[in-house]
Amino acid sequence: MYNDLNEVRDEVIKCNKCDLCKNRTNSVFGVGNENADIMFIGEGPGADEDREGIPFVGKAGKLMNQAFVGLGISREAIYIANIVKCRPPNNRTPLKQEATACLDYLRNQVILIKPKIIVLLGSTALKNILGENYGITASRGKWIEKKGILYMPTFHPAALLRDDSKKIDFWNDLELIKKEAEKNNYLI
Ligand code: URA
Ligand code: SF4
Repeated sequence: MYNDLNEVRDEVIKCNKCDLCKNRTNSVFGVGNENADIMFIGEGPGADEDREGIPFVGKAGKLMNQAFVGLGISREAIYIANIVKCRPPNNRTPLKQEATACLDYLRNQVILIKPKIIVLLGSTALKNILGENYGITASRGKWIEKKGILYMPTFHPAALLRDDSKKIDFWNDLELIKKEAEKNNYLI
């Protein structure tokens, strides 16, 4: 359907498929290596991301970056995107109809990037990608294989800001990803 990511981005910039288009400053398409083996999927832009048009540049993103540096995961090697590309008001969880309207863009990003591993950051990413019957607490830290892609659900970095005790699990989950990537010589 799309020849490259720029074509998808051009659609997102002018998209008005859901009401989130009304309040956006910038849509937040995604950032990173277009040949990434590892893709991270978050929920949706916050205030900082809406202002800059880049995912995970705010507080949660900075915390995630610190973990990446600590573990030796390079942001240049990976790709980061969100379930919805426009900021939900007051950072509320995207509604089902908003996620459904937006998901086609993410699917096309996955088709074009062809990641081997997809990291699902938090419940919204998990439920919208793998299904409503998955819960983040039970699913995190366990590999799930579907159609040749390995999925790793883990906590959303914003959850770590609210609850320090989740940091160790997040770290352990990223370590599993790093080990799998090294075993297979994936870009990391
Ligand atoms: N939270 C998300 O889920 N995505 C971002 O891009 C920033 C914060
Ligand atoms: Fe379009 Fe997605 Fe933005 Fe809704 S959130 S307007 S579907 S780009």
